[in-house]
Amino acid sequence: MSEELSFDILHTVLDSAYEGIVIVDKQARIIHFNNAYSRITGIKKEQALGQPVTDIIDNTQLHMTLQTGQAERGKIQVISGQEMVVHRIPIWRGEEVVAAVGMLIFEGVSELHKILEMHQEKERKADKALADSQKKNKKQMVTLDQIIGKSKEMSETKRIARRAAKTLATVLITGESGTGKEMFAQSIHQLSPFADGPFVSVNCAAIPEHLLEAELFGYEEGAFTGARKGGKPGKFELADQGTLFLDEIGDMPMIMQSKILRVLQEKEGMRVGGLKPYRTNVRIVAATNKELEQMVSEGGFREDLYYRLNIIRLHIPPLRERKEDIPLLLSYYVKEICERYLASPKHFTEEAVKLLTAYNWPGNIREVVNIVERIVSLAEGEEISATDLPSMVLRHQDSHAPVSFSGGETTEVLDTVRKESMEQEREVIINVLKETKGNKSQAAKKLGIHRSTLYEKLKKLQIK
Ligand SMILES: Nc1ncnc2c1ncn2[C@@H]1O[C@H](COP(=O)(O)OP(=O)(O)OP(=O)(O)O)[C@@H](O)[C@H]1O
Ligand SMILES: [Mg+2]
Repeated sequence: MSEELSFDILHTVLDSAYEGIVIVDKQARIIHFNNAYSRITGIKKEQALGQPVTDIIDNTQLHMTLQTGQAERGKIQVISGQEMVVHRIPIWRGEEVVAAVGMLIFEGVSELHKILEMHQEKERKADKALADSQKKNKKQMVTLDQIIGKSKEMSETKRIARRAAKTLATVLITGESGTGKEMFAQSIHQLSPFADGPFVSVNCAAIPEHLLEAELFGYEEGAFTGARKGGKPGKFELADQGTLFLDEIGDMPMIMQSKILRVLQEKEGMRVGGLKPYRTNVRIVAATNKELEQMVSEGGFREDLYYRLNIIRLHIPPLRERKEDIPLLLSYYVKEICERYLASPKHFTEEAVKLLTAYNWPGNIREVVNIVERIVSLAEGEEISATDLPSMVLRHQDSHAPVSFSGGETTEVLDTVRKESMEQEREVIINVLKETKGNKSQAAKKLGIHRSTLYEKLKKLQIK
């Protein structure tokens, strides 16, 4: 390539660069001054070329770079009244510095600082809001009696939870998705010696691997680019004297598994970029829907951490293994959702309950909530019958349902539902009557039923 051509190419590249670039010869005269530099400083190229750099650029140090031969990177320099980040790089030929390059990296560092500060301020506010809502939520946290289920399986699970809560031991909650693991974790906290402390929850699957350590253990100011001023406490610090809920622990990367294990053993944590460890006294409750034992045998989960976590095991059986709980859940959620949506009260027909009970509920209770929500918003009458059910429920009928609908057990289950929904209906009507101060026409209107229907109901439900 001819020298001329390389020179042209170099010029084009320099001129199209986004950064401001100035090059001086060994006498500190400007030999190149690119478009960006001109745009940023407002100095014309013709004015600059051939002039001593010290005459053209405020506060320049480029002549010093020629003398020292030292590169400087990321220095702040005030140019045209604005702080900017600059690099200064000497060009050596043999033993001699023959030129120096100055680069302006950011236009208006102060802008950048402002954006960064705004962002940090936002984060601080969000943290505070979270802390406040956690305080407020304390009373709204789930307790064991809000966990619906009277089946043998559920009663046993609750019994274990109650006993586990009283101890200081780590609890490992397992169960399919939507079985209520988070509800149990909160209930355990409420009944535990740590109930006065915070309940802090971390979803190990939702946080990118490289941020997880900072999230769990906190970081010091300047620990990495983007680390905010004053650093940030980690979840282990925030949960001190309370419960730390490690949700989806099966998704924790191996490297973090070792770090968690160390904290559990030594009760000491260390912030990213920190020098001194801090003490931490937290009760760990972990949950997963993965088969941890299998992960251990396949090398995906540390065996020693598994044993540390699995001190008390709380397994929540899937809904299809405790079908008696289905009617209870249906009647609870239909009432709750109607109230929440300000819809007139509804109830399931016997047949609908039968079909819903025979469904296999792969999404467990979360699916119950979703399906009831869908039905309530679509069904028009106050009765929810088989035709109102999603086709999926009709398609996936479990022929080996432990509760058959021919025996005495069935009648019992349906009786429970009937009683519950009658009680619920009774309660709603009484409340509406209270609101209308006993005016039945108004009450019927509010309930969205005919007055004669209301009279029938009052008689049937023995409301005076
Ligand atoms: N026994 C129950 N009684 C009433 N509601 C329940 C019960 N179990 C779960 N739910 C409800 O079902 C939904 C899912 O529960 P939760 O989030 O605790 O499940 P999870 O096991 O943590 O699920 P995932 O593994 O998907 O995180 C929530 O809305 C919860 O309130
Ligand atoms: Mg969960």
